[in-house]
Amino acid sequence: MARLKPSFVCQVCGAVAPRWSGKCEACGAWNAIVEEAAAAPLTGGTAAARALGRGRVVVLEGLTGATDEAPRLASGIAELDRVTGGGFVFGSVLLLGGEPGIGKSTLLLQASAALARSGARVVYVSGEEAAGQVRLRAQRLGLGDAPVALAAETCVEDILATLKDGPQPRLVIVDSIQTLWTGQVESAPGTVTQVRASAQAMIRYAKTTGACIVLVGHVTKDGQIAGPRVVEHMVDAVLSFEGDSGRDFRILRAQKNRFGPTDEIGVFAMTGDGLEEVTNPSALFLGDREPDAPGTAVLAGLEGSRPLLVEIQALVVPSTLGTPRRAVIGWDNARLAMVLAVLEARCGVRLGGHDVHLAVAGGLRVQEPAADLAVAAALVSSMTGSPLPVDAVFFGEVGLTGAVRPVAHPGPRLREAARLGFKRAALPAAAADAAAESGIVALAVPTLDALVARLAARAGAARPNDA
Ligand code: TYD
Ligand code: MG
Repeated sequence: MARLKPSFVCQVCGAVAPRWSGKCEACGAWNAIVEEAAAAPLTGGTAAARALGRGRVVVLEGLTGATDEAPRLASGIAELDRVTGGGFVFGSVLLLGGEPGIGKSTLLLQASAALARSGARVVYVSGEEAAGQVRLRAQRLGLGDAPVALAAETCVEDILATLKDGPQPRLVIVDSIQTLWTGQVESAPGTVTQVRASAQAMIRYAKTTGACIVLVGHVTKDGQIAGPRVVEHMVDAVLSFEGDSGRDFRILRAQKNRFGPTDEIGVFAMTGDGLEEVTNPSALFLGDREPDAPGTAVLAGLEGSRPLLVEIQALVVPSTLGTPRRAVIGWDNARLAMVLAVLEARCGVRLGGHDVHLAVAGGLRVQEPAADLAVAAALVSSMTGSPLPVDAVFFGEVGLTGAVRPVAHPGPRLREAARLGFKRAALPAAAADAAAESGIVALAVPTLDALVARLAARAGAARPNDA
């Protein structure tokens, strides 16, 4: 192979620079530019045609006509299948990202074993652990009898040769993409060029054979390592496995999915016997609830198509700082600032001299604006020192005018609340009918001010801070 001219590649965003510099001009990352040999152009077409500099004519198709629903390989792990949209799609490549130690290998080993037991040929290629280590883990998880074909290999050419030799696999796991290297490019394993070229080779294999491929990618919190980011646009689906290692539950979330929804979550608990599916996540997230504590409100939330009740905790304390602290865990900073501003401007709740701490209990990350009302309730409850009713849930989006706006799917939220024994709900007026159907007493709040007045009256005081 002719020696290719070296280039300087940012290991964070993949941008190519003409010379080395301390800072990447494209993404602003420091100390991320590394000298690499340039990759050979990766193009399609037959080798002969490319040698002649001419392309091959492809057949153009219209948008009309029938196309089959993408055929899938369901893993039988319901929480995983929910996030992929019903199973791995044949001929597609999925990237499973997550911090080291979160449980990616465990999840994929369990899925591999389940599929292998059901008769599908599954190849598990481990580039990080020796075959013996993977086997030991499988035996510890009670999966030792599953006919998974195991290999410890990192060279892409060897992996592809192995896959082509023997029966065609239905599912191939590559753990992890950072350990792969191909002789096609001269950079070290783990660099952007190697990761990209190796992923490209695996993608081509999936498209030509129809096998499902799952690539594992490690990401770190600060995203410094040459990571899966650079392959995100090449693969068909990107799932991320989250959770903090101090707790035992894990959330699987789709960030990109060409063949399914991106708003579904799967919930697992890491136990001594591997990952267990959590079929009733609301009960899990409300498990440690202290009902009499002021500053906690239960949000009747929704993740994808699944209702999920979570506790929102707020702590409002007088500040000793010139600029009071606003600390948020599990919710959006800007959204909290907005709710605080509306409380201040429209409801007369003065929080300017107070530090505000807000957390979604259990370490979950809530993204929907429907949490506004629960956040506001938790804040007011903390401020007045008066606990909210123990049997009440809250949901509703708050606008800048202080109006409480309707949110999507009130029905499933309220049914979930009723199922878990809640009796009352503070909600947007439009959701009152849905509450009646679920047997929940609705407190329709047209404006945030109405809710604050109600809570203040309950606290047995005038408006908070009015004095
Ligand atoms: P692992 O799947 O190796 O993580 P990743 O591949 O994402 O790096 O999981 C490692 C962690 O999971 C490790 O800290 C131990 C824990 N674990 C359990 O608690 N129970 C188990 O049954 C297994 C297999 C792992
Ligand atoms: Mg691993």
